[in-house]
Amino acid sequence: MRNPCIWCCLVLLTLVVCDSCLHEERKHLMDICDAFLWPAGNPPDWSSRDCCRWERVTCSSITGRVTALDLDAAYPSWYGLLNCSMFLPFRELQNLSLGNAGIAGCMPGAGFEVWSNLRQLEILDLSENELNDSSIMPLVGLASLRSLFLGGNAIKNDFIVQRLSKMKLDILDLSWNGIFGNISRGMASHLKFL
Ligand SMILES: *[C@@H]1O[C@H](CO)[C@@H](O)[C@H](O)[C@H]1NC(C)=O
Ligand SMILES: *[C@@H]1O[C@H](CO)[C@@H](O)[C@H](O)[C@H]1NC(C)=O
Ligand SMILES: *[C@@H]1O[C@H](CO)[C@@H](O)[C@H](O)[C@H]1NC(C)=O
Ligand SMILES: *[C@@H]1O[C@H](CO)[C@@H](O)[C@H](O)[C@H]1NC(C)=O
Repeated sequence: MRNPCIWCCLVLLTLVVCDSCLHEERKHLMDICDAFLWPAGNPPDWSSRDCCRWERVTCSSITGRVTALDLDAAYPSWYGLLNCSMFLPFRELQNLSLGNAGIAGCMPGAGFEVWSNLRQLEILDLSENELNDSSIMPLVGLASLRSLFLGGNAIKNDFIVQRLSKMKLDILDLSWNGIFGNISRGMASHLKFL
């Protein structure tokens, strides 16, 4: 490249685009920080400029967008109900961990079905919560999911298991739920882990 200035600008632009989180997503992460009660009352240190370097946050090295969020053991501060719409700005989210958090569902107005707009969401961990049959039903509409962890909840009915087994999941964990009814071998055969 003949003009060193153009070269320099390109390098700078690449750094700006790739080396830091998007301003918009940083703002939404701070909203998430406020919407949870954190373990031992200690919110994560989410203050530096580059949110891609924050604990519990993983970004794409290409787009700088958040690809994984680990909110394990963070309790939704609104009666154990998640504001499920709050996650929609993270368009490249692939892996969302919300285990061990007393979650009973989503706030009225927007259930888990809104996460069908997170088109790259493949791994969802909702284990060790307070979810029952009716609160998890909307999860069956999340077509991009491949791994779904629902162990240690209050799922009781084999009907919901049948619906979940029709999703394109590689991993479905329903351990420690106390499901009664009829879970046939055929239903479980295509799942790697049930
Ligand atoms: C998804 O996130 C959880 C929690 O951070 C992590 O333990 C797990 O390894 C991640 N899975 C993948 C496939 O990256
Ligand atoms: C839920 O989150 C959305 C998006 O961040 C926000 O607009 C809405 O006000 C929140 N709802 C409640 C009840 O806090
Ligand atoms: C399931 O959980 C939701 C959300 O907490 C609650 O409103 C509903 O009454 C529960 N249903 C049953 C059958 O317990
Ligand atoms: C379970 O389902 C199988 C096949 O659908 C049926 O033959 C069997 O009677 C059922 N068992 C119970 C306890 O419902």
